[in-house]
Amino acid sequence: MSEPIRVVVTGAAGQIAYSLLYMIAKGDVFGPNQPLILHLLDIPLMMGVLEGVVMELADCAIPLLRGVVPTDDPAVAFKDVSAAFLVGSMPRKQGMERKDLLSANVRIFKVQGEALDKHAKKDVRVLVVGNPANTNALICSKYAPSIPSENFTAMTRLDQNRAQAQIAARLGLPVGNVSNVIIWGNHSSTQYPDASHAVVQTDGKQLKASDAIKDDNWLRSVFVETVQKRGATVIAARQMSSAMSAAKAAADHMRDWFNGTAPGQFVSMGVVSDGSYGTPKDVVFSFPVSIKNGKWEIVQGLTIDDFSRKMLDATGKELEEEKTDAVGIIGA
Ligand code: NAI
Repeated sequence: MSEPIRVVVTGAAGQIAYSLLYMIAKGDVFGPNQPLILHLLDIPLMMGVLEGVVMELADCAIPLLRGVVPTDDPAVAFKDVSAAFLVGSMPRKQGMERKDLLSANVRIFKVQGEALDKHAKKDVRVLVVGNPANTNALICSKYAPSIPSENFTAMTRLDQNRAQAQIAARLGLPVGNVSNVIIWGNHSSTQYPDASHAVVQTDGKQLKASDAIKDDNWLRSVFVETVQKRGATVIAARQMSSAMSAAKAAADHMRDWFNGTAPGQFVSMGVVSDGSYGTPKDVVFSFPVSIKNGKWEIVQGLTIDDFSRKMLDATGKELEEEKTDAVGIIGA
């Protein structure tokens, strides 16, 4: 068994963390042979609640979990961490637009970027979950110049998982039979869930999802809108934002980043754009990526038809606007 690695989860007293901590601690992300020490960051007001979470982690009696460090100090939280799940922020409430969140949240990610820069391992892999995730990840990276920008990513895996589930349900297939659905752009209602490169396994054969579904109209309307609005639909039903599914997606994202993707398969991650597919450069844009040896690469050469072009441009424009607003707020 290897030496324990240090993993930080921010917003550790919140509802996503409540599901996520257990998944990380029992080896779903870093594997059954990787012991770990969990660093839990939250705000001073939540230290009492966090104490309860620490007790529960102890009571889970998980052999892989070698230590827990609860704190309200980013310097302690980010010290020597190899992986960071940045979940803590103000969650979206019913009726609240994502743009309202920007002002409250980018400041948090500036502070955390600076703390990562000073205290984390230089090869730390950072996943931003807290919304607006893409722009928060960009700001965090800007304030951590000693850590490569490719080590900062934003979560669109929940959208990908939602999209896969919609296709599987439509075809009556297990969700594991669906792959290569893409989420392009922002984790917001402008995101573009794209099934045109997706494949499904059905009756022992591999088919293009669009050939199996045989309804391009559904794929371009109901499917896209259902995935785009799924977060709001869950909030309307639960009166709280998605938590269990968000935790599962965060675990999936980081597991694939550390372990790689299967040959021919890709997953969606928000990463700093290099302008691939005519997207704006230097925003955190969700692309299909393949991962090998801990490094992601944007999948190249996919066909972008007129419909996709329009959708990519719209979400790219929103990300550029968010970036301008964020820079205006923090005066970067
Ligand atoms: P929550 O409100 O239950 O928990 C958030 C926690 O973050 C709270 O304990 C709060 O005290 C803490 N926090 C606030 N400021 C902090 C700071 N500066 N440092 C450390 N901790 C801080 O919220 P929940 O449901 O866990 O959601 C967390 C975030 O994840 C929200 O921004 C939500 O919108 C986002 N989210 C993102 C998804 C995605 O797909 N990217 C999906 C679902 C949620």
